[in-house]
Amino acid sequence: MLIVALPGGARLAAGLAQSLRCDWTELALHSFPDGETLVRIDAAVKGRCVVLAGSLNQPDSKTLPLLFAADAARELGASQVGLAAPYLAYMRQDRRFNAGEAVTSRSYARLLSTSLDFLVTVDPHLHRWHSLQELYPIRTRAVASAPAIARWLQDHVKAPLVVGPDEESEQWVSDVAHRAGAPWTVMAKTRHGDHDVAVRAKDAGPWTGRTPVLLDDIVSTGRTLLAATQALKEAGLAAPLCICVHALFDADALWRLLGAGVSGVISCDAIAHASNAISLVPALAEAVREMAGDMPARPTDDFQPSAGNVIAP
Ligand code: R5P
Repeated sequence: MLIVALPGGARLAAGLAQSLRCDWTELALHSFPDGETLVRIDAAVKGRCVVLAGSLNQPDSKTLPLLFAADAARELGASQVGLAAPYLAYMRQDRRFNAGEAVTSRSYARLLSTSLDFLVTVDPHLHRWHSLQELYPIRTRAVASAPAIARWLQDHVKAPLVVGPDEESEQWVSDVAHRAGAPWTVMAKTRHGDHDVAVRAKDAGPWTGRTPVLLDDIVSTGRTLLAATQALKEAGLAAPLCICVHALFDADALWRLLGAGVSGVISCDAIAHASNAISLVPALAEAVREMAGDMPARPTDDFQPSAGNVIAP
């Protein structure tokens, strides 16, 4: 196997290669003055399973190099070409919310599937789509972050109450809470615009003595967790700890949350961010190994993201 790091994917590629005992290289990129891009794989690929590695946040600039690299690997004789993308882009546009809009989750799946044999990702945003197979005709594997998050909660939080900011989050919240042996609840969210979100509590407890932990799959603007934090405060609960799987975090999201009086912010390392504290690399490596065929894996429990601290105000 050969792991090829997509733009921004070097750390993930190195972690996967360490776990899978294989080589990795960074995809070489050259931008021409006219804005076009040349990609080059600086390693032998003939007869190897080539796995492109990198999260697809900021997807528009990453997707063409990904497709070019996948085609190059295939033309150069790769036995199969896979993608390990912990964050899979465009999943939230899962219907035509307004007349004339594109359903980009479907278009993006069609695009990637033309060049790949398999896809491994983490907790894709499945809401109106119920599985990746509805969208992707290639082999897919969705790795769950819940076991790693639940272990972290057991090690770091006394008597947690796991809270989801909206009904969609129930799938992650209930799984994490069940594994951590904690109670859970979800709130009700109405989104009026990118930065305009209202959240209200649906269930008042009793939650005495519990530490609220707000859990969402994605933080982008932070408005969802901000509104949820305010609703928890109004319900008389303590300042929540915020945990997310995919730390998209726009430039101000972290400061918005810290300014709203949360007790801390942490994330999984699906997207590299200062809040990364929970590593998903071992689970991803295992999924890649299974998708690529039989390859002996090295035990990888010792792999940790570099920034392991809770970010607190
Ligand atoms: C929504 O469907 C997702 O699960 C997240 O709640 C949402 O993407 C978070 O976005 P933001 O941080 O911009 O409120």
